[in-house]
Amino acid sequence: MADLKLNITEKPDLDKARSRVRQEIPVVRDEIVVPERLIQFAQGKKYFIRTYGCQANVRDEENMRGLLELTGFTSVDDEKLADFVIINTCAIRENAEDKVFGELGILKGLKAIKPEMLIAVSGCMVQQTHIVDTITQKYRHVDLMFGTHNIHHLLELLDEAITKKTRVVNVPSKYGEIVENMPSKRNHRFKAFVNIMFGCDKFCTYCIVPYTRGKERSRLMDDVIKECKELVTQGYQEITLVGQNVNSYGKDFKNGTTFAQLLEAVALTGIPRLRFMTSHPWDFTDEMLDMIAKYDNIMNHIHLPFQAGDDMILRLMARRYTVASYLELVKKMQTKIPQLTLTTDIIVGFPNETEAQFQGTLDLVEKVKFDATYTFIYSPRKGTPAHKMLDNVPYEEKQKRFYRLKELVDRIAKEKSDTMVGQTYTVLVDGVSKHNPDKLSAYTESNKLVHFKGDAALAGKLVRVRIDEANTYTLFGSLIDDQA
Ligand code: 5AD
Ligand code: SF4
Repeated sequence: MADLKLNITEKPDLDKARSRVRQEIPVVRDEIVVPERLIQFAQGKKYFIRTYGCQANVRDEENMRGLLELTGFTSVDDEKLADFVIINTCAIRENAEDKVFGELGILKGLKAIKPEMLIAVSGCMVQQTHIVDTITQKYRHVDLMFGTHNIHHLLELLDEAITKKTRVVNVPSKYGEIVENMPSKRNHRFKAFVNIMFGCDKFCTYCIVPYTRGKERSRLMDDVIKECKELVTQGYQEITLVGQNVNSYGKDFKNGTTFAQLLEAVALTGIPRLRFMTSHPWDFTDEMLDMIAKYDNIMNHIHLPFQAGDDMILRLMARRYTVASYLELVKKMQTKIPQLTLTTDIIVGFPNETEAQFQGTLDLVEKVKFDATYTFIYSPRKGTPAHKMLDNVPYEEKQKRFYRLKELVDRIAKEKSDTMVGQTYTVLVDGVSKHNPDKLSAYTESNKLVHFKGDAALAGKLVRVRIDEANTYTLFGSLIDDQA
């Protein structure tokens, strides 16, 4: 494969990404221009997108799909059949990045057989200078790199790569803007993610997100509500409002707008199920709890990452709460919302974590009894403050702690699931189970997966199901009523 010329128009810059000087946040409402040559190029051509990471990335993928389909490109499920492949990446941990490099290796082989295949890398990974350098030097079969801030320019950048026959790198590090009016092709027929804000200003010391996604900035309430109303009209059954820390919604408007007000306005659209994530334990308000308690269509489920069960580690992580204040918040939540289910994220093996500090994490898990816990081994991220901390804990010890924690969270999740046996719940039917064509898959209010026998036509409906049997993370039940 002959090397194409490299055209770097913008490269990510960590210092720029870190900057939080006060600046106006523009709301961009430009019309999307579809380059004429791209329309001709895309005729009969297929695209494939693989997304890693969080809901923000999933939503970005949906926008990319919307854009590409304006040109005539159609979607394909198998990358081998694609003319244009996008790998939409996550930078939160090293193993997410390793998977992408593995995938790029496979794509190199595919491109050797099919040289006209175009390959793009997008998302959080390429917002880091060292990753852009590695890809331009060692993965020369990648034709295009664009970031989290310029998805709306995808068509122009692709057009440039095609017409100028160059490898294009355009990854600005920005304070950020709000881009409205982006076309979107959603991945799910009746469950939708709706962005309410972008970026993050918390700067937890281990986390790369504030650098890859820019300043915390909220979408205007009117724009969010308009999108939600359209989803209700289209028959959507569930909306999840997404942001790195939804509690911060509206603070940047400096006019008293709060997340609780937005939550109420979305609940009033009549969407049958309303969720939100993620919430930081530091600025979770009573007003939010009151809203959850007030509206039946706001699900009684809060994802409340605690990360570590030790005050010193929490301070080193810059999390702004203590074990005691976290437990106090949990108690308040459970008092105001008796049916509440809680889920969390935990990091094991933060630099210099002692056995006693790790024990604090186990104790907290035992006390709160989360319905589901997402556990991670700490992964140093270049450019973050924690990356510079010397670490005296060997990786094998971190792995051992990880497995000890995993055993505990699985035991508790199983106990929680067991308490559901014999009870009847309202579930939203997703469709036929991917693993068993005789069964349907559905989700409870707490987002637990339930399998039961039923007609495929129930997909998208809220029905009543009795739980007969429980595995740790999957329930098995029987249909009691095909209407909730
Ligand atoms: N290493 C391990 N886990 C991390 N997370 C964020 N950054 C890191 C990191 N450097 C975890 C946190 C967060 C979740 C989305 O990912 O637990 O809540
Ligand atoms: Fe990362 Fe902390 Fe922001 Fe979450 S709140 S995205 S963990 S910096």
